[in-house]
Amino acid sequence: MSSYSLGAYPRTRLRRNRHDDWSRRLVAEHTVTSADLIWPVFVQPGDGARQPIASMPGVDRLTVPQLIDAAGEAAALGIPCIALFPATEAELKTEDGREAWNEQNLICQAVRELKRQLPDLGVLCDVALDPYTSHGHDGLLVDGRVTNDRTIEALVKQSLAQARAGCDVIAPSDMMDGRIGAIRDALDGEGFEHVRLMSYAAKYASAFYGPFREAIKSKRASNQPVDKRGYQMDPANGEEALREVAFDLADGADMVMVKPGLPYLDIIRRVKDEFHVPTYAYQVSGEYAMLRGAIDQGWLDERVVLEALLGFKRAGADGVLTYFAVEAAKRLKAG
Ligand code: PBG
Repeated sequence: MSSYSLGAYPRTRLRRNRHDDWSRRLVAEHTVTSADLIWPVFVQPGDGARQPIASMPGVDRLTVPQLIDAAGEAAALGIPCIALFPATEAELKTEDGREAWNEQNLICQAVRELKRQLPDLGVLCDVALDPYTSHGHDGLLVDGRVTNDRTIEALVKQSLAQARAGCDVIAPSDMMDGRIGAIRDALDGEGFEHVRLMSYAAKYASAFYGPFREAIKSKRASNQPVDKRGYQMDPANGEEALREVAFDLADGADMVMVKPGLPYLDIIRRVKDEFHVPTYAYQVSGEYAMLRGAIDQGWLDERVVLEALLGFKRAGADGVLTYFAVEAAKRLKAG
């Protein structure tokens, strides 16, 4: 705020600019457009019907052909990029998650098909082992704890498989130390220097991921949530997020992400102010569930969707991963 006087009532009236729609639009500081949105989609094997996810009403798991149709609609609405997450069959889940680097796995098949049919739509793939491990952790367990350096070796293999399938953006969500540099080197070593890295740099150990774990079927039989506090960040920490982001940028991240979104808007702002790099928010499954649930009950008007997305932009995000992407793009188009 500048130090000279910004005026005083009654000559100055802040309501004047709010008086009409045209002047409200003229003074608007931020906007959300479809180009700000990345759409996360859950992919299922086979050729059955769309499968609803109980805790995310309106979000279904899609087979590859259903994904192609949905992605075509998203692209036509101006959404630049989609993010893929697999619902892996229980038989393919193992202690070491080796299905993650099987080049014929569901994600690699989906990427190949998307790039064949919709070459201009960006495809982002999550890198972490949790959709593929029987225990639901993002990495390899040794004595009940996720081990860092051996997990990185697995993540490198997973990233290469995705890049060979044609993935445009590799997005490591595992929070191992040093994985960005290792993945960058491996990609460059195979001639994938154009493949972008979006780091889930400041990812918190959050209870807001609950519905996602149902979506990718990584919920355990015990129904006890998997405790990821040994690698994901403590929600109490802000300074540490800046250190994580600095670390990943130094290792070659092209874009960084803060996750979850709404309870961490302060982190988005601090990251943007400190580093001035492309910064993304992930409005996670629990945030979707809260808004969707309240809208479906009639407790909140659906305008909350665009308001929340605008909040991320105002906080400094360049874009948002959101399950509302298609719905929001339609609303934006309708004006
Ligand atoms: C997996 C991963 C998670 C999400 C994205 N990638 C879950 C987790 O870390 O447990 C959460 C997304 C969401 O809740 O929408 N590493």
